[in-house]
Amino acid sequence: MCGIVGYLGKKSVVPVILESLQTLEYRGYDSAGVAFLEQDCLNVYKASGKLNNLRSRLPVELFQKNGHSRHLGIGHTRWATHGAPNDETPHPHVSCDGNIALIHNGIVENFGELREELTRKGHIFHSKTDTECVVHLIEDLAKTETDFLKVLQQVTRRLVGAYALVIIDKRHPDKLYGVRNHAPLVVGIGDDELFLGSDVVALVEHTNQVSYLQNEEIVELSPEGVKVINFNGQPVEPLVEKISTGNLAVDKKGFKHFMLKEIYEQPDVLRNSLSMRLLSPEEPIQLFDEAADAKINEIERVYVVACGTSYNAGLVGRYFIEELVRIPVEVEAAGEFRYRNPLVDEKTLVIGISQSGETADTITALRQCVNKGAKVLAITNREDSTIARESHFVLPVRAGIEVSVCATKSFAAQVTVLYLLGIYLAERRQQSSPELLKSLKVGLQRLPVLVENVLHTSEEIQTLAKKYGNVRDLIFIARGINYPVALEGALKLKEISYIHAEGYSASELKHGPIAMLDPSIPVIAILTDGIVYDKMISNCQEAKARDAQVIAVNSGPMPEDVRDTFEDAVFIPQLEEMLSPILTVIPLQLLAYHIAEYLGKDVDQPRNLAKSVTVE
Ligand code: F6R
Repeated sequence: MCGIVGYLGKKSVVPVILESLQTLEYRGYDSAGVAFLEQDCLNVYKASGKLNNLRSRLPVELFQKNGHSRHLGIGHTRWATHGAPNDETPHPHVSCDGNIALIHNGIVENFGELREELTRKGHIFHSKTDTECVVHLIEDLAKTETDFLKVLQQVTRRLVGAYALVIIDKRHPDKLYGVRNHAPLVVGIGDDELFLGSDVVALVEHTNQVSYLQNEEIVELSPEGVKVINFNGQPVEPLVEKISTGNLAVDKKGFKHFMLKEIYEQPDVLRNSLSMRLLSPEEPIQLFDEAADAKINEIERVYVVACGTSYNAGLVGRYFIEELVRIPVEVEAAGEFRYRNPLVDEKTLVIGISQSGETADTITALRQCVNKGAKVLAITNREDSTIARESHFVLPVRAGIEVSVCATKSFAAQVTVLYLLGIYLAERRQQSSPELLKSLKVGLQRLPVLVENVLHTSEEIQTLAKKYGNVRDLIFIARGINYPVALEGALKLKEISYIHAEGYSASELKHGPIAMLDPSIPVIAILTDGIVYDKMISNCQEAKARDAQVIAVNSGPMPEDVRDTFEDAVFIPQLEEMLSPILTVIPLQLLAYHIAEYLGKDVDQPRNLAKSVTVE
């Protein structure tokens, strides 16, 4: 979490930094700050809350594009890990002598002992953050070493944790420094200008030439160019790549919120995810090259590790892959998996699902599996991410940049890729009948158009949002492959409307949760034509018998005689039950959106959250 940017060039630094920070605000918005050099003065401005608060604090002359005297600076948008968001905690932090300013993404785990040591040496701390100790440490080490790269090398020997740092020092007015250790940092190379950013998204407005720093690397940017060394001081040749910037553009395209735009993008996202992989229902799915094909088909079991929405997508994948491929599939929250010495070996395929590809728990869990000899496959929206780089195989989900903190289109894309993977494995292993696999492929091809149909329910759902938007609690129930969708519906609602919501398997209601039911707690039930339809109806009737208002999201027709079980019902097209989660999730995404909008919440940037959870 936290977005960091640095700029060295000929433009006026503050507008450049603020524009870049705007694109990184999804990484955290508890506070923001900038520092820049102006002649021999280091200026620092900070504000708690969103970037706009900082913007309104900055003198207007800083926005003049011809402010040529200011061309070295850094900026930060923060998701708080240490210290409540207030006016002291925002980065940049500045050394006691006022020479050095530093921004940081990550966590310094040994900050307590460093702080004690540096306080004893006379350093004055202005915040309780872990970051502040780093700037004092640099200041301290720079007293006896004038080569700043050597100072940074020494700093890395003292820090424990994951961190990306960007630093400027008044005594080196044409140099911008960066350090990367298990938190992303990218160099952007433009015409007579250089950038650092925690995500290429921050750079694409300015350049398409980038170089991803690797772990344990330090970079010095100067008018002479890009100099990289590793933590041992050995020079490293930076690998410069040309990136395609088209799908990284951040634009609401006329929608009120990014979330709504991203929900509506789902038909195209599905087309992209299927393209070149599913050519026709008669042909086998193509996902990997020959070498990868051979390796992946040696596997005997699958583990999926992921967090949040990506975890819910993994649960759908489990139902699908186990059913089709007949191999065991386990799904576990990455933050739990990594602490329990899991039983994985070279016959295990570990699938890491991550929209951002930067989720710290997922990265650590996958690294463990690489070390244990498992085959690791990344399913991610960011081919340039740490997870993609460190995995043996990558399946990009091709959802395009997702800006809203609340994930929607990436879920659809992840589930689609898991479907493709399931069919691919079943075809190679000759599991499942060719007829079944063919009908699933036909179903997959129909999905984009069916999703377009479901999106037409938006107005109807807006009406429901007004009817149920003032409740305190809400329950989502489903069974089988739609059970994860109940979890996802509850997660969406909680994170953007702050209404307490739970997702349950409908079969579990009577084992406890049914005790809560009364007319004040609506129950949203997902009903799809298939083996659990009748059971679902019974579970809904049990809820109604406890005076709950039950609302159906029903795929296909509903028998007349059960219609009065439901206070309201949203009807969506019928589809093979195994593929239905892609459709059933949409009314729940729309419901969360419309409720949050009705309640006047900050839909795209819900409180306390950040898009990319790069701390453990
Ligand atoms: C919910 C949401 C989060 C993420 C989770 C994992 O809307 O966005 O629950 O799904 O933080 O993030 P990624 O997929 O980037 O690893």
